[in-house]
Amino acid sequence: MSDLKFLTYENLEQIRMEFGTPSFVYDESTLRQKAQELLAFPHAFGFFPRYAMKAAPTAAILRIFNEEGLGIDASSIFEVERAVRAGFGTEFISLSTQELAEDFRYWAQDGVKINLCSLSQIQRLGSWKIGEPVGLRFNPGTGSGGTNRTNVGGPSSSFGIWKGDLIKARDLCHMHGLEVERIHTHIGSGSDPEVWKKVAGMSLELVRAFPTVHTLNLGGGFKVARMPDEVATDLQEIGQSVKSIFEEFAAETGRKLNLEVEPGTFLVAHACSLVSSVQDVTQTGVDGYRFLKLDAGMTELLRPSLYGAQHPIHIIPDPEEVSEREEAEQVVVGHCCESGDLLTPASGDPETLAPRSLVRGEINDFCVIDSVGAYCSSMTTKNYNSFPEAAEIIKKQEGNLALMRKRQTFEQLIENEVAP
Ligand code: LLP
Repeated sequence: MSDLKFLTYENLEQIRMEFGTPSFVYDESTLRQKAQELLAFPHAFGFFPRYAMKAAPTAAILRIFNEEGLGIDASSIFEVERAVRAGFGTEFISLSTQELAEDFRYWAQDGVKINLCSLSQIQRLGSWKIGEPVGLRFNPGTGSGGTNRTNVGGPSSSFGIWKGDLIKARDLCHMHGLEVERIHTHIGSGSDPEVWKKVAGMSLELVRAFPTVHTLNLGGGFKVARMPDEVATDLQEIGQSVKSIFEEFAAETGRKLNLEVEPGTFLVAHACSLVSSVQDVTQTGVDGYRFLKLDAGMTELLRPSLYGAQHPIHIIPDPEEVSEREEAEQVVVGHCCESGDLLTPASGDPETLAPRSLVRGEINDFCVIDSVGAYCSSMTTKNYNSFPEAAEIIKKQEGNLALMRKRQTFEQLIENEVAP
């Protein structure tokens, strides 16, 4: 129990009795502490951090970050709407989206800042004649991610205006009378800090081409260490490096740029655990595997199936019934009828089973999966096998547990179906 991040056995029992499993449990203290660490990012001439809300968009989390003074990075107009309903003023929201819907023009008129992500987006927004300054998101030609699938820079990535199209982008903006005030780059999630720093320098080169730009947004992508062998990005270290290059840029050009960053993972990854129950145990012969089947799976936590991502897993028997249980090599799987619903794949290889040494699990034990705050609840195969969406709970700073999203009911699951 001692190595759980913020939950006690009493918390687990209360969750099972009052809210049921599986439930995501967020920790308010960790959320606030991460916001404070981000606000201490070194900078030369002004800094504004945004939360990439796609990581975990539930209103209770947005409200906490609003109170802490963060802004929002939204990725669709639906996220803009959610942020506004959670209390963010439109002027604190920026949008970098793959799908620039017509409806966005009203948000743009209302103060939401946009980073145009393709040449056709420049054309579209230009034709709306809104008269607000814009940002441009560039693909700087280099990317870096924890896996290939989370690398969003370089020629294999469709995100942003390709660096070679800079002149075309500038001409298009000019043609439509759009003033460019921000340059934006985001090169991946779980980025190598050295590549991240290098791209910060490359992004300043893009700024040179636009004399009206006053803000450079360097995206998110800071690595966190979920497993003991992983190394987290040191924000102070990369921040100092960016601060120096901003100062050099100012000495050379006289332009004192504002810095923005917009992490998702850094702010929420460690602030949530998934509380589930072992609901079955099977064994495939002496040369096979011992499988622990949870009442959760890819319907809550897709990252292992998608990326071969690794999350800490704890099997927790009732301490009153069992004083000590030995460990065993076990494969942990989800509840979907899908061999890909695997919670212990090999690192970076979702197709290979990687048995893990865990407390020998039995039916009804708790299984707690840690560091699931980012892209878990928000990025699932929701309702696959018709399992309802899990509940979300928050452990308040005072220590009590409170519901922040109810478990979906069966009626809600089928409510949009109509008899044709
Ligand atoms: N800004 C933009 C424009 C983004 O597309 C993203 C993430 C972020 C910021 C935040 O990146 P972060 O700090 O969270 O790394 N689902 C994956 C990561 C893909 C995220 C996509 N964009 C995961 O589970 O790790």
